Order: sequence, then structure tokens, then C-alpha cells
Amino acid sequence: MQPADPCTFVIFGASGDLTRRLLIPSLYNLSEAGLLPDQFAVIGFARSESAEDELRRTFKEMVDEAESDPVHEETYNRAMERFEYITSDFNDEAGWQRLAGAIDKSSTAIGSRNCLFYLAVAPEQFLNVCERLAAHKLLDETSHGWRRVIVEKPFGRDLASARDLNQKLAGLMAEHQIYRIDHYLGKEIVQNIMVFRFANGIFEPIWNRRYVDHVQITVAESLGVELRGGYYEQAGALRDMVPNHLFQLLTLTAMEPPSSFAANGLHNEQVKVLDAIEPLVASECGRTSVRAQYDAGRLADTDVVAYRAEEKVDRSSTTETYAAFRIAIDNWRWAGVPFYLRTGKRLTRKKSEVVIQFRQPPLALFRQASMDAPEPNQLVISIQPEESIKLRFAAKVPGPEITTDPVEMRFNYNEHFMAEKQTGYETLLYDAMTGDRSLFKRADMVEAGWAIVEPMLRAWGGDGCALARYSAGSDGPAQADELLARDQRRWRSL
Ligand code: BG6
Repeated sequence: MQPADPCTFVIFGASGDLTRRLLIPSLYNLSEAGLLPDQFAVIGFARSESAEDELRRTFKEMVDEAESDPVHEETYNRAMERFEYITSDFNDEAGWQRLAGAIDKSSTAIGSRNCLFYLAVAPEQFLNVCERLAAHKLLDETSHGWRRVIVEKPFGRDLASARDLNQKLAGLMAEHQIYRIDHYLGKEIVQNIMVFRFANGIFEPIWNRRYVDHVQITVAESLGVELRGGYYEQAGALRDMVPNHLFQLLTLTAMEPPSSFAANGLHNEQVKVLDAIEPLVASECGRTSVRAQYDAGRLADTDVVAYRAEEKVDRSSTTETYAAFRIAIDNWRWAGVPFYLRTGKRLTRKKSEVVIQFRQPPLALFRQASMDAPEPNQLVISIQPEESIKLRFAAKVPGPEITTDPVEMRFNYNEHFMAEKQTGYETLLYDAMTGDRSLFKRADMVEAGWAIVEPMLRAWGGDGCALARYSAGSDGPAQADELLARDQRRWRSL
């Protein structure tokens, strides 16, 4: 692989958590892999007063923390050799003038006008920052340089606001300049879903309604809301996780083979899946979806407080920290195959996976082998904490009698490839620097995602769907089990 294009990388919100924990360690990893160009500069822009040298030191400490091996001084310096920090309010004209000057200076130093802007800022600032970038002509592309903007999530808080933001951004720059990021697509095993499906001949023939009974997508976290109570109160589990991360997993699992893996080929197929989802009916959301909030409980032998007792959370909050629902994809491949999705905080453990459950054999030949119905065949694509793919099937237990037991074939990503520890942002940053938008979301994908959850948002905001409760440290609310039990199915245990 070639190093990325020469560029100046401007981080808005450079003193924040995302920059320290993920962006700078990713730059280090890119540098270590020889994928960062020699002509590279970083400009940090943020409100908090910080000395450049001090920031450099904290960044280095964060890289140290993120790496399993000792940090190579030289690699770190190569990434951060040209680093400038501008303290300014996002509304302060003088700060923007300084930024424009700094970009000019760094462009001359690296011999390139390419600029990648990263909006690691609160969503209320997305538009403001882009408007000011446009006003200072910092988004103008010329033959001497591209200009690209990476926009973090959440992209809007419902369909109307996402549409509005898309329209306003479209007035400021071209779609090809906008990189809407979803860090789930930076995870190797998530990208591997495409390879698993389309680079192998054996799975695709059975990847459809004839052989698949149902699909489960789980993103469970043991973490609570940490220091983000203020944001989370406004968002809740549905907005925070579903239209973005869960729908990425869903579309990669359910889409048709794209005509090419170039951005548009892939995005077209992802959008087709979203468009084929049977519209949810707000009045039925009480039956097809579950919203819940955690009470106090125990996790890893430690007492943890209820959501309502978390910092910056209203003591009588009705924000959901758990969401589960069923959808149907009305297309040729998936007609009649339910997809069950769930996500929640403070569950018994962190676990993200996609489970394809296959139909039972047509005849129970080994009925005498077990009193219970045989365990179903499952293909489990595990994303976190372990990155693996497992296939569960029945095997004969040794002995004179015919008894069966479920066994597993397992491929573990890290054990096999022994890959270096990564943050998940390396590929995404490299792609943005090389102009590959495949792993970023197109405007219509974002809107299609919001359109699907919109009826649920409406129903959940009214009184059509009661807020269920679950104990921190559990597998989630009983109502989520009932959702599947009504269809004679059950969740894979966490
Ligand atoms: C973020 C959400 O997008 O994803 C967080 O805002 C969540 O609430 C996080 O904790 C989960 O990411 P991961 O990679 O740890 O599964």
C-alpha cells in the first residue's frame, strides 16, 4: 500500500477525548505502518486553552496507553512533527483568521493544499464549523488540492434534522467532500462480513429465506453512560446506536452483492436494503419493539447505580438505555425472515455479534437422541470483544448410543492474523486521505436509516410503548425475551 496523499489534517475539538483516545493513536499506527505521507501536518483547533508542548506530551501518553508495544519515538515524531494548536471559540473570527493563516503556512511547508477537516465537536457545532470553513474559502477545491470534511455522529436526531443538515451541507460543499463517519465500519471484522459473504462460494447459496430462519443483531455494552449523561439524556439507545452502527451491520449482512466495492456500488446496495424494510407502524411499536432503562445492579462483582442516578441524568428520566425490535425486509431474498435487533448499556457483558440462525432439518431423524428439540445451526459473526466467526452444528457424542451435542467450528481473527492492536480509525482516516468513500455514509443512507426508526421514535415519545426496566448486569428486560418468545424464538444468551 502507498502512503496517503500529502495533506494538512485539521482537528476541530482537538483537546477532546476522541482526539486523544482515537485520532492521535491512529495517526501513530498509520505512521508505523508507513501509510502516513512525509508531507503531513496536524493543526488542532479547540476552545480549551492548552499549550502546544503540553498537548504533544498528553497525546504521546495516550499513544503509549493505546499501544501494546513500546512507542517508537521516531514514528511518533514523524506523525506529529508539524503540529500547531489554535485556541479559539468556534465563533471567534480572529481564531478563524489564524486557522486560515496556519493552513497557508502548512500548505507551503508540505507543498500541498490538500486539507482534511475532522469535526470532533458536539453535533450542534457541525453546521457552524462548516459554514465558517466555507466563509473562509477553506472548502474550495482547486487543481492544487482537495478539501474533505469528516463528520462524526450523531448526524441529526431524526429524519427532518438529518435532511436539513444534509441540505445545508450540500449548500456549502459537494457530496464527494463529505465523509460521514461510522466507526463500526473501521472494525476489520465488520468489513470482513463482505469478504466472508462474497469471496467464498459456500455461504452465499444458503444466505436467504430458503435456509435462514432468522437473524439476530446484538450490540451489548457493560459500560453505562460514563460522563456523557447530558448527551445521552437527549439521545437514548435508539438514536445513539440504531440508525448508525446497528444498521451498518444489518445492511452488510442483508445486502445483495454490489456491482463493485467502489463507494457508489456498495452504498447503492446498502440503501436498497434500508428501502426494503417494511415500514414500522407506530401503533404497533408496543408489540414489535421494547424500550427499557437500567436499574441499579451488580456488574463484575461491583455495585452499579441506576441510570437515573448517573451524573447529569434527570432523576425521573424516561430515556431508554436499551432498545430491541423486529423488522422485516421485504425483498426476494429475505421475505418472511425476521431480523431482531437489540442494543443496550449496562448489560452483563460487552458483546456485539450478528447471528444467522438456519432452519431446522425437515425431519427429526435423531429424535431419540435428545428430549429437547435439537439446537439450531447458527453462524455467529462476533465483532466484540472477540473477533471471530463460529459455526455451530450437532455432532454425535462418542459411545454406543446416538446422542448429539452442539459443537463449534471457530475462526479467530486475531489469533490467525496476529494483527497489531488498532483503534479502528486507521482505515477510515487513510481512506479519507486517499479519497475512498466506501466506508463512509452517503446522504441518502443516513436519511433512510432515520426514516426507519422514525415511527418508533414517535411511538416511544408518546404513551404507546411503556418503558420496561432491567437490572444492571443482566441480559436485558424480560419484555425483550417475550418479543422473541412470541415468535417461538429466543436470543442467544449474552
Ligand atoms: C458510540 C456511542 O457511537 O458507540 C456510544 O455513542 C457507544 O454510546 C459506542 O458506547 C460503542 O462503540 P464500541 O465500538 O465500543 O462498540
